[in-house]
Amino acid sequence: MSTSTALITGASSGIGAVYARRLAARGYDLVLVARRADRLDALATELSQDHAVTVRTLVADLTEEAGLARIEDLLRTGTIDMLVNNAGSGPIASTADLSDADAAATLKLNVTALMRLTRAVLPGMRARSHGAIVNVGSVMAFHAMPMTSLYSATKAFVLTYSRAIQQEVRDAGIKVQAVLPAGTVTEFYDTAGVPITAFDQSVFMTAEQLVDAALVGLDRGEEVTLPSVHDTALWQAYDDARAQLFAGTQNGSPASRYLQT
Ligand SMILES: NC(=O)c1ccc[n+]([C@@H]2O[C@H](COP(=O)([O-])OP(=O)(O)OC[C@H]3O[C@@H](n4cnc5c(N)ncnc54)[C@H](OP(=O)(O)O)[C@@H]3O)[C@@H](O)[C@H]2O)c1
Repeated sequence: MSTSTALITGASSGIGAVYARRLAARGYDLVLVARRADRLDALATELSQDHAVTVRTLVADLTEEAGLARIEDLLRTGTIDMLVNNAGSGPIASTADLSDADAAATLKLNVTALMRLTRAVLPGMRARSHGAIVNVGSVMAFHAMPMTSLYSATKAFVLTYSRAIQQEVRDAGIKVQAVLPAGTVTEFYDTAGVPITAFDQSVFMTAEQLVDAALVGLDRGEEVTLPSVHDTALWQAYDDARAQLFAGTQNGSPASRYLQT
């Protein structure tokens, strides 16, 4: 029997580690990617003991060319059935105060790595007429706020990029799902520089709740999954308004309010 293989970036903690546990339980062989080798190795040992699956770890910094190129190569040459683009970071600082290094790393990880890994895996999936790409975005994709300007903008990229690719591959047997978490209890906030305790705890769900909901969405073929949104009419109204706004831009002439009198 052939087994499916999933590659998960950012599998050493939080949401990525839960994806690894859940996909191992579903029988996927795994390739786990992150920088912390000790975390990846411990997870790989746990999962190969608990489930009859093969787990490979790849230590790579996705903000560095060598690390990213290694994962791209594997996606191009191996048979990966599911790519979970989960690795991401979001330093919380005002735009002027964010360090150049943190700004560059955020763009490289949240945008460049996600884009390049998606492009690397797609040709093989198209040739096999089969595959799934899960892009972990954020509800910040549609919410610009002070202190998260770059993070919000990178997650807007994830949403828009995913939605366009969905239209390209819809008839090719490939699922592309954008998962937009709201607050989720992980180490994300330690890395971001503000403790999770500084936020209203009532808006947080666990990483297990988030991933379990996202996988239900994936199984149902959802293209955009908002695990914390109870009223689906909210997303529909937002998306309808977006389409109407776009249609309203297709006029070829300036609106009368901009005409000099
Ligand atoms: N937690 C939330 O409230 C929340 C809300 C919305 C969206 N999200 C999104 O969820 C995703 C997962 O985050 P999380 O909440 O699970 O946080 P997390 O526990 O901090 O996990 C981030 C993962 O990304 C990996 N990573 C970070 N920098 C990397 C790099 N340069 N190269 C390779 N891997 C790197 C980390 O591993 P190493 O440090 O070992 O490399 C870790 O496995 C992110 O895309 C985040 O934007 C989170």
